[in-house]
This record gives sequence, C-alpha cells and structure tokens, in this order.
Amino acid sequence: MDLDLSHPSIADLRQVARKRIPKFAFEYLDSATGRELGLQVNRDALDAIGFMPSVLCGRTKANLRRTLLGQQYDLPFGIAPVGMSGLMWAGAERMLAQAAVAHNIPFSLSSVAVASPEDVAPHIGTNGWFQHYPVNSGDLRRAMLPRIKAAGFHTLIITVDVPEESRRERQRRANLTVPPKADLRTLAEMARCPAWCLAHLREGIMPRMRFFDDYITQRGRESFTHAGALIRGIPDWQYLHELRDEWDGNLIVKGVLRPEDAGKMVAAGVDCIWVSNHSGRQFEAGPAVIEQLPLIREAVGPDVPLIYDSGVAWGLDIMRALAKGADFVMLGRAFQYAVAAFGARGINHAIHILRSDLTANMSQLGAEDLDQLSDYLLDQN
Ligand SMILES: Cc1cc2nc3c(=O)[nH]c(=O)nc-3n(C[C@H](O)[C@H](O)[C@H](O)COP(=O)(O)O)c2cc1C
Repeated sequence: MDLDLSHPSIADLRQVARKRIPKFAFEYLDSATGRELGLQVNRDALDAIGFMPSVLCGRTKANLRRTLLGQQYDLPFGIAPVGMSGLMWAGAERMLAQAAVAHNIPFSLSSVAVASPEDVAPHIGTNGWFQHYPVNSGDLRRAMLPRIKAAGFHTLIITVDVPEESRRERQRRANLTVPPKADLRTLAEMARCPAWCLAHLREGIMPRMRFFDDYITQRGRESFTHAGALIRGIPDWQYLHELRDEWDGNLIVKGVLRPEDAGKMVAAGVDCIWVSNHSGRQFEAGPAVIEQLPLIREAVGPDVPLIYDSGVAWGLDIMRALAKGADFVMLGRAFQYAVAAFGARGINHAIHILRSDLTANMSQLGAEDLDQLSDYLLDQN
C-alpha cells in the first residue's frame, strides 16, 4: 500500500488509529479537557494565519535545517513528550527514538512513558530530551537527575502546566487505568484489536510507567491508581530555581503562555521556553497558544530559543509557528496516531507528510529560508 496515496494527511492516520487501538487508549490520546474548546481555539487561530505567495521565483529549494540549543537538526520539528506512549502501540517509544535519529529530529521521552530512559538510551544517540514532571521531594528529584543524564539525555524539559490532574471527561468515560485493568469492558475492547494485543504480547511488557514506578514504595503500590499520582509534586518558582542549580545541561520550561512568566524564567537561567497549552488537555479557557507566541518573543527578545506546540497537524502549521516567532515546533498526537496506525512505518510517513507539506507550501511562497517566513505573513502585526 502506498501510504502517500491512501493516507496523505495526519487526519487519515488518526482515523486508522481510532480503529486499531482499544477505545480507552484512543480516548486518552485524543481527548482534551472540558468541552474541549482549547483544541478548537488553537485550530481556529492557526487557520487564521495566512501568507502572501510570491510568483516567478524559479525553482526554490527550502533549507529546513535548524540549530537549537547548540545542535543541528535536519527538520524544524520534533516529537513532544507523550505519557504512556507505549500504550498506544507496544514499543512506541523505541520506534519514535529510532525514527528521530534516522531523520535527525529531537525525541522527548516523557517521565510517565512506558519505556524508561535506559530502555530508550541505546536507540536515541544525541537526539534525546527528557521531560520531567515536578516530583514531591528534592531527594527524589536528585535521585532521578543523574539517572537521566547517565542514560544520555542532555536536555531536560520541565513541564509546568500540570499543577493538578485535569478533568478530561472523555478520558474518564473511557475508563482508562494504568496499567489497564482486566475487567470485562477493557477485555472486550482489547479483543476488538488483535494486532494491538499481539504487539503487546510480543513486546512482553505491561503498559505501565516504568521510570516513575521505580520510585514507588511497596506500601504506595498497594493503594495506587497510577504511579504518577503518587509522586507528582507541584511546580513553583523555588522548584525551578533548585532544578536549574542541579541540572547542568540545557533546561527547557514547557507549558508557558504569559510573557511575564517567560521573562522571569529567562532571568532564572532557563535556556529555552516551550510555548504550549498542552493542546487543551489542562485548561480550555485560555488564549490560543499561537497568539501568545509573538508576545512571548517580544518579552524575551530575539535570542532566547522558543518552541511552539499545540494543534500542529500540517507542514503549513509549522510554517505559521515559525513565522510567528518560534525557533522550533513539536508535535504530540500526530506521531502517536502515526505509530498506532502503522507502527514504525507510520512514524516515517508522518515525518514525510510534514516535510513535504512544508516544502510544497514554502515553494508556493517562493521562500527558501525558514527565517524569512514572517516576511510573507498577510498580517504583519
Ligand atoms: C496523550 C498525551 C499525553 C501527554 N503526556 C505528556 C507528558 O507526559 N508530559 C508532557 O510534558 N506533555 C504531555 N503531553 C502534551 C504534549 O507534550 C504536547 O504538549 C501536546 O500534545 C502538543 O499538542 P498536539 O498533541 O496537538 O501536537 C501529552 C499529550 C498527549 C496528547
């Protein structure tokens, strides 16, 4: 099957994923919180950004390379951290890491992924970033950090937009527990997805949070709903300052929307700001993330690297974010739909979709350089 003819967009991969994985896994992946307005607000604001094409430019050849935090990547986008990625497809984290190296893009491993840093280490080379959720004690954090470093992750992301669990009603209704419980409903859903079950049997590991799990005491384990809930801490400024002192690699703060917060973070020694609203999974009444991007760029100045995510599904969206002030763009769901739909082949295909959409649209503008994109914006404000 030629995927480029049968499944030319990320939305096509989503449709396949919906059929191929159990409902509890798909709803976890696909949902946002509340009425899910956050998703729509992001989408509408991205769609409102237009460009003015230029013609008679001859054959253009877009240069898609980007240097971020001292490392050169072949594409201006990468893989955002997704908890329990290995639930979507067994071995997903390993496959994503391998694809990241093959295409020379960054891969972020979530601290609540199924795979541990050591599981991913042999596959990630120098393209690995590790995502950290604040934990409930400094000692625990100081135990984790050297382990992450030893596994070869040089860049640490601290996610700050999850002060509490959000409601995510659709996910709740789908009855997801970690690990999935063996009740009739769950078993029936799994039985509908034989390829998904077989992949898990072959992989031989239960979908659970292997990194966080290592830090749960036996007593905690007896009562737990999921490991993350037991050791999660609350993000605050003191936590950020301590982390900055303890981590000597690149430090990225993820989940920033307020320009004033971004400015304070830079003053606190943070290397890069990741502008995101967790794609509407935490709070639905905030601004469109893309509209905050230029405000944050103005607050931190031209030299602080900015990453954008939330709602990116097209190469054109990547152009929009770069034109509005991002240095780099990350995608969460898109890669998970891809791996759930077609495994490793799906990830390669998603990268192909994004790259070719990006190149095709850049040539419509007559643009070769990612830094020039803002010159083509319809609305220059
Ligand atoms: C199923 C799922 C799980 C996620 N888990 C994490 C996580 O463990 N840590 C984190 O920082 N962000 C997590 N995110 C947020 C993503 O990193 C990213 O911010 C978001 O998915 C980007 O939006 P997009 O999915 O529209 O591309 C998760 C997102 C999804 C969809």
